[in-house]
Formats: sequence, structure tokens, C-alpha cells
Amino acid sequence: GIELGKLLATTGYITHDPGFVNTGAASSAITYIDGDAGILRYRGYPIEQLAGKSTFIEVSYLLIYGELPTQTQLAEFTDKIQRHTLLHEDLKAFFSGFPRDAHPMPVLSSAVSALSTFYQDSLNPFDEANVELSTIRLLAKVPTLAAYAYKKSVGQPLLYPDNSLGLVENFLRMTFGFPAEPYEVDPDVAKALDLLFILHADHEQNCSTSTVRLVGSSEANLFASISAGINALFGPLHGGANSAVLDMLEGIKAEGGDVANFVTRVKNKEKGVRLMGFGHRVYKNYDPRAKIIKNTADEILSKLKGGDELLDIAKKLEETALSDDYFIERKLYPNVDFYTGLIYRALGFPTKYFTVLFALGRLPGWIAHWREMIQDPATKIGRPRQIYTGSAERNYTPISER
Ligand code: ACO
Repeated sequence: GIELGKLLATTGYITHDPGFVNTGAASSAITYIDGDAGILRYRGYPIEQLAGKSTFIEVSYLLIYGELPTQTQLAEFTDKIQRHTLLHEDLKAFFSGFPRDAHPMPVLSSAVSALSTFYQDSLNPFDEANVELSTIRLLAKVPTLAAYAYKKSVGQPLLYPDNSLGLVENFLRMTFGFPAEPYEVDPDVAKALDLLFILHADHEQNCSTSTVRLVGSSEANLFASISAGINALFGPLHGGANSAVLDMLEGIKAEGGDVANFVTRVKNKEKGVRLMGFGHRVYKNYDPRAKIIKNTADEILSKLKGGDELLDIAKKLEETALSDDYFIERKLYPNVDFYTGLIYRALGFPTKYFTVLFALGRLPGWIAHWREMIQDPATKIGRPRQIYTGSAERNYTPISER
């Protein structure tokens, strides 16, 4: 395929593939997906095993370095991250510049972009020690930035990280705790969030990861590339879908819970009405991540909230859609976002914040891809071609004659 592409380029032919439905833009050894069989593996390990046995920090190590860590490697990795959670004090002032009701995703992407200005000593993409330091800084500081984006949006004081806590626990404390008040991390909440982060940690060449690779292919530094990925994730057809699902479920509830009527509107392709959390470019079968989440949603929601009316609506929606020809013919199944919003809500996060949680989970995947891209001798600057459809040559007319 790669050779054919090169050959075509020399003959003047261009492959027209809108949305890159069938374009292999990279060779990668990180994540394997079989969309027809519903299989997902990180570095060869089935997602079901990692979800059941691993932790987010261990999965981050696996994605970035290629192997599961030994006990010593994991302890060192955890320790390095813990020692970098603090932000430069001036970065706090940065948060005051945004409107109080700003969406936390552009706040987060701006803050991550600003890391290039605060940590100029680790920007060289070809210096291994620089890349390693930027990697650790991102893994450590993005949760702090994300918690600060939340605190600003609710008008509460910022908390310094507590480095006696693990990554997820620290993030929860900085998000929901108050200065000078003890904060007990609920182990069920931490476990649920850790699981969701594992399930989001990588998904090969999706929109945001491809963005990270494309920006990085110009040799832009890791912070700049990750910031671009966060912006790509913001859109409702990608990471923004987890918020959109909850808005959809709330809307159905507000209209009396008529699931069949909503599905009819989807099938009639009413403008702006899609079954959010359904369908996927690659999965033409049940998304294995959605399967894991669905199995745990009941357990988590009943433990944390004593059940959830919106979960009942979601299940009814799924049941209706999966037995309907419109969805069967198009092979539309629930994707990872269909059930995640319900869990995030039960954990206490506002809807607007859900996509930030996706970004926290996807961070190690983006970093792993950027590092793989920068080390690959086959990498060239990403530069797609186009089919020109504009005007033929014409002569300039002075403004007085137009
Ligand atoms: N609801 C209703 N119809 C749908 C849906 C949906 N959620 N998804 C796809 N379809 C229909 C399309 O209208 C199209 O029908 P047609 O053949 O009659 O024109 C057909 O299924 C194929 O859909 P495409 O839009 O061509 O599929 P594509 O691969 O481009 O899009 C996407 C994939 C963006 C995920 C799409 O399924 C969608 O919009 N889903 C809802 C948003 C969502 O949940 N996004 C999260 C994706 S997962 C992630 O980013 C983590």
C-alpha cells in the first residue's frame, strides 16, 4: 500500500480519501483493533485483561515504553510522576484570564500549550532526555491543570497536589477537595475512574491521535502537539460525544422518556438528531470498551447513587436500536462514550467536564504515538494533497470595476 501510494504520487495521480477512511498514515506497534470482531489490544494485551487486572499508571507505562513494567520500574515511574505534579506558580495566574463559565477543554488545551513557555528546557524532540522529561511533566501536570480548570469553573480555590497520593487519587482530591480540609478519597470512585482511564488510554489513529502525530511531524514539541490533540478531542463527534450522550438522555427524560419516538427522529435523520454514543468508524461490532463499561455501570451506579433513571433510558435506547433495521444495516453499536457519561456524573463531575476526563485517559496514548512517530525514520512531515475544485485562471479586476 505504501509503495503504491509513492508510485501514484510520481505519476500525478492522487488518492481521494475524505476522512481518511482507508488511508494508512503510519506504521504503529502500539494498539491493535479488529473492528469487525470487536477486538482491542494495547501492545498485544487484550483490553479485557488490562481492565480487569492492571492500573492506569501501569497501562501508561506499557503504552509509552512497550512492555509491562517490573515492580522497580513501576515504582520509579510513579515516583517521577509524583515529583512533577506541581505547576509553576505563575501558571495559576493564567487561569484567571478565562471567563468563569469557559468550557474546560479549551482552557486545558491552552494551559497545555502554555507548558512550552514554562518548561523550555525540555522542548527538543530529538533529545531523548528532553522527551523523557516532557513525558513525565505531561503525565504529572495535566491532571493538576485539569483539576484547576474545574476549580476555576466552579469558583473554588486551587489546591496544591498532595504527592503522598496516587495519580487518580491526587486528581480527585485537587478537583473535589478544599484547602485545609481533609479529603477522603472514596476507593470505589478512584477505582471506577482508573478503569475508565485505562479504557480510554489509546485507540490507534483516531482523530486526536492523528492530530498529535500530524502536528508532531512538523517537529513541533510534545506540549504543542498534545495541546492540538486536546482541541481535536473537544468535538462532539469525538471526545465531546460523552457529554452529548448525557444531554441526549436528559432531553429524552425531560420529554417523558419516550425512547421509541427519539429513535424514530434519529432514523428520519432530523437535523442535529443522532444517536450519540452509537456508531464508530472502525468498530462494526460492539465496541469492547463499551461492553466492559456496560457491565460495570450497573455496579458502580447502584453503589454510588442507588441506581439511575438515565441508565434505564440508556439501556432501553440500546435495546431498541440493536433490534432496529436502520442500526443493524449500518452496523451501529454503542461506542465507548455511550455509558461513560452516566458514570462520570455519578462520580460527581458536571457534564461539561466529561471530555476533560477523556483527555486525561488518552494522554499516555497520545504521548506514545508522538514518541513512536518522532523515532520512526520513515516519518515525513504530514502533508496531504487535494483535488482542486476552484476557478480556472482569471484576470484581476480593479475594485472600481467590480
Ligand atoms: N446515529 C444515527 N445514524 C448514524 C450514527 C448515529 N450515531 N452514526 C452513523 N450513522 C449513520 C449515518 O447517518 C450514515 O447513514 P447513511 O449511510 O444513511 O448516510 C451511516 O450510519 C454511516 O455513518 P458515517 O457518518 O458515514 O460514519 P463515520 O464513520 O463517518 O462516523 C461517527 C463515525 C462519527 C462515530 C458516527 O457514527 C457518529 O457521529 N456517532 C455519534 C457520535 C459519537 O458517538 N462519537 C464518538 C465516537 S467514539 C470516540 O470518539 C471515542
